[in-house]
Amino acid sequence: MTQISSSNPLLTIDKISKQALTVISTLHQSGFSAYLVGGGVRDMLLGLLPKDFDIATDATPDEVKSLFRNCRLIGRRFRLAHILFGREIIEVATFRANHEEDSHSSHHKPIDYRQHSGHTKDGMIVRDNVYGDIEEDAQRRDFSINGLYFEPYSHTLIDYANGHSDIENKTIRVIGDPLQRFQEDPVRMLRAVRFSAKLDFNIESQAKKLVQSQGHLLHKISPARLFDESLKLLQGGYGVKCFHALQENHLFSYLFPSVQKLIEQKHETISPFILQALKNTDQRIGIGKTVNPAFIVSVLLWYPMLKLKSKLLADNQENEFQTLLLASQEVLKQQQSYTAIPKRLGFMIKDIWLMQSRLEKPTKKNAPVVLAHKRFRATYDFLELRIKMGETQHQNIFNWWTEIQEVDEGEQQQMMQKLPSNSSKNKRKKRFIKK
Ligand code: CTP
Repeated sequence: MTQISSSNPLLTIDKISKQALTVISTLHQSGFSAYLVGGGVRDMLLGLLPKDFDIATDATPDEVKSLFRNCRLIGRRFRLAHILFGREIIEVATFRANHEEDSHSSHHKPIDYRQHSGHTKDGMIVRDNVYGDIEEDAQRRDFSINGLYFEPYSHTLIDYANGHSDIENKTIRVIGDPLQRFQEDPVRMLRAVRFSAKLDFNIESQAKKLVQSQGHLLHKISPARLFDESLKLLQGGYGVKCFHALQENHLFSYLFPSVQKLIEQKHETISPFILQALKNTDQRIGIGKTVNPAFIVSVLLWYPMLKLKSKLLADNQENEFQTLLLASQEVLKQQQSYTAIPKRLGFMIKDIWLMQSRLEKPTKKNAPVVLAHKRFRATYDFLELRIKMGETQHQNIFNWWTEIQEVDEGEQQQMMQKLPSNSSKNKRKKRFIKK
């Protein structure tokens, strides 16, 4: 049943970004309807500070573009308008309908078929550009808590999917038939887990059973999209909770199978190591600091990489450093078929791993190179984590690296002069670490 209310005190105009308000009023002035929708409305109703504001409208993307000079159209699967205000982006989406073949209800037909939509044989949506009205738009959103529309000027909240009461009851409820909606887009299962962890909500029981049994559907999702979702889970500020929730719902193995395998083999340090890094990440995000995705992936894949390295060494293939390089490349390569790590991050991850031994054994010659390396800080943080978890005992050396960052250049030179000279072994390694 549709609920329209206009008096919720949590929905105040001062919590809404000025840019989003400008976009809404410009659309209104041209005769279009426009609402805030999704996470922004949900978070306001929870008393949280919304992260971003998305707008839904009956204007088509081209009509939106014609109204804003600072607008660009993006997306193939979803055609969206991005309105750029400096660093802030307001996303404007045209109301969309479910595909004809999905709709088991007696809903009237979508108002416009300006573009095609499509499903694969197993029910997955591949293109999704059938425009519709606001009610149809609500029906195709993922969860009831994300299907609320707020019009700030008339202070109207429109709720087609009972999202407001689900927010009050702390429930993640799929809009429509959960199995069908998960088959259409299996990423919704990861989203259910993320929202339940972030908001401390329960996933409604039928959907939860499906999440726990249908993870295999994620095999159909592109590794690039799974990588993006993994980062939202692990670097969204609630990484520790999301990691536990992914474990509880048996989904982690579809993202990082080599890590899950070690966890299941009761590898002693892998979970504490990951959890400590996620805790640090959550804290950094909590105080507004930036985080580097390469760091968390280097933590996740560290033990699978070490395991492969030991295996290769046991097979007596190469020397220690070349084996480390080989194992790093191989573990990253294997991971690509699950979550596609962008090349640039792959290089950073390898740098972090390969520089560990240089940090542990600084010499007169390599210390300046390491200190000036653009990946020094991440490598140093990684070493700190390993020491904290008892994996390596180089606390004194770590303190040395801490000190050298705090002193002036002259003192840095003196500290480096006291280091041992290069070993021939280190000369060999240098080839692999480019600045
Ligand atoms: N949405 C959806 N299905 C998806 C992705 C998005 O229905 N697979 C809709 C939901 O209404 C969602 C909105 O698009 O609320 C915006 O999505 P997104 O920005 O990914 O998430 P938020 O809900 O805004 O949450 P958060 O910002 O916390 O990630």
